[in-house]
Amino acid sequence: MKLLFIGDIFGTCGKRVLAERLPSLIKEYAIDVCVANGENVAGGKGITHNLVGKLHKFGVNVITGGNHSFANADAFDDFANDPFVLRPHNFPPGNPGKGTALYTLPDGRTLGIVNLQGRVFFGETLDCPFRTGAAAIEDLSASTNVIFVDFHAEATSEKKAFAAYVDGRVSAVIGTHTHIQTADERISAAGTAYLTDAGMTGAADSIIGMKKEQVLRRFLLQTPTRFEPSNEGPLLCGAIVDILDATGKARSITRVCEQVRFSHELDV
Ligand SMILES: [Fe+2]
Repeated sequence: MKLLFIGDIFGTCGKRVLAERLPSLIKEYAIDVCVANGENVAGGKGITHNLVGKLHKFGVNVITGGNHSFANADAFDDFANDPFVLRPHNFPPGNPGKGTALYTLPDGRTLGIVNLQGRVFFGETLDCPFRTGAAAIEDLSASTNVIFVDFHAEATSEKKAFAAYVDGRVSAVIGTHTHIQTADERISAAGTAYLTDAGMTGAADSIIGMKKEQVLRRFLLQTPTRFEPSNEGPLLCGAIVDILDATGKARSITRVCEQVRFSHELDV
C-alpha cells in the first residue's frame, strides 16, 4: 500500500497548494490512500465544516488533527459524524469525535490510523499518548496489519520515544506540529518507518505559516500582535510510505517537499 501523508495544511495557501497539486501527486506516485493533517487549515487555527468537505474533495481520505483541532465549534459535528476526520485520541473523554479510524480502500485493503498529541511543551492535561496510543494500536491490529500514526508534538524526543515504544507494532510513525520538515526518515529493523516531522503545506516565506513581519513584531516588541497567514512561497510537504500489505512492514519512506506554482488563479 502506498500511503501519502501531507504535513500540516496551513491557511488559504495550504488549501490552494492541495487543490493545485494533490490530484496529480496521487496519480504520479500511484498513491492508494492519502492522510493529511488539517488542524491549521482554517486561517492557521483549526478546521471548519466547509474545509472538511474541500480536503476530501481534493483527495484527502483521512484528516488528522492536533492542538488546534477544536478551535472552531463549526467542525464539531464533523468530528462526531465523519469517521475520517480525527482529532488526537488522547484528548480527555467527552470531547467530540475520536482519534482512530479504519479506512477501507476500494480494493478491500484496510489501513488503521491513529492520531495522538504529545504533552511536552504543550502544558495541557492530555491523557498519556504512549499508553492510549498502544491500546488503540492493539485494537486496530485485530483488523489490519497496516497502521499509520500521526504523532502531533513539539518535542523531537517525545516523537522518537513514541516510535521506539511502538517499534514493529505499526507501519509508520510520522510527526507533525513544528511545520518544519526534518531529514531523519528511516525504517527500523522491525519495519516501522519514521520521520520526526512531515513539515507544513502552506507558505514557506513565513514564520511557520504566519506573516513574517507580524511575528517579528511580537518577538521584538513583546506586545500582543494579531497574526495572519502568509500566502508567499507555496510549498507542499509530506512523505510517501510504501508498506507491505501482508505484514504491515514499511518498504520505503520518501520525503516530499515541493515548491508549487499555481497554474492559474485558483478560487478554492
Ligand atoms: Fe499543532
